[in-house]
Amino acid sequence: LTTTTTLHNGVEIPVFGLGVYKIPEQEVYDSVTSALALGYRHIDTASFYENEEGVGKAIKDSDIPRNDIFVTTKVWNDEQGYDETLQAFERSLKRLEFDYVDLYLIHWPVPGKYKETWKALEKLYKDGKVRAIGVSNFLPHHLESLMEDAEIKPMANQIELHPQLTQVETRNYCKQHNIKVEAWSPLGRANYLDDPILNEIANKHNKTPAQVILRWNVQSEIITIPKSVNTLRQKENADVFDFELTNEEVQKIDSININKRIGQHPDHFKY
Ligand code: A2P
Repeated sequence: LTTTTTLHNGVEIPVFGLGVYKIPEQEVYDSVTSALALGYRHIDTASFYENEEGVGKAIKDSDIPRNDIFVTTKVWNDEQGYDETLQAFERSLKRLEFDYVDLYLIHWPVPGKYKETWKALEKLYKDGKVRAIGVSNFLPHHLESLMEDAEIKPMANQIELHPQLTQVETRNYCKQHNIKVEAWSPLGRANYLDDPILNEIANKHNKTPAQVILRWNVQSEIITIPKSVNTLRQKENADVFDFELTNEEVQKIDSININKRIGQHPDHFKY
């Protein structure tokens, strides 16, 4: 769980973390506490999830040094714009009760807004308030447009990615530009863990389909942040560092792709 990869500015990020999408504030405290006890050292939250306080408090109460844990948060769509983002960041920081954030992301590419928002992220980065900056739900054309004016290239792009949505184009684009890809909903919200290909591979390795998917992420150089509020499933999900998929198995999982999204398409989002 302490396996890391290096962002283009030299900052190390654990390749495996806990997602806490919309876990209610009361419950998130227990989820994060449980994950930290299991060895998780990377937590991914967002202003939109309305649970930053619980995340921050669980981290504080864990007595694990703050700098041993990598924390991501994100600026929400209606907080975008230069001044608005600087203010939104301060609100997140206050809720987390931190003095810095490890990775700050633009949650969605709001048309007409994200370039100004990026300038605010660059300022936060230069001021040392965030160790790294990036984006989420950006397609290659958004990244292309962002980088026309950017001084600093995004260090990560967090996108919906799972076997039914393998995101080959965005992954290739990011690889070319040295932007790390992070997968949200890597388990496809557990909607198709009964898939026969996943089960066949899982049986061969004496693992579960969820573990096969998460191993597929790790081997494909994708940072993965499965969500679970359940200690047993958190433990199961983290147990993916003791086996290896063959190239053929990786390709079989790649072939499950049907470009099927759970979330919104970044170009058709009602911003
Ligand atoms: P729970 O929180 O009760 O464990 P994703 O990260 O792809 O969005 O998936 C999250 C969903 O998948 C959550 O509803 C979570 O439920 C469920 N989940 C997480 N890990 C597993 C697992 N190992 N097996 C089955 N379901 C899981």
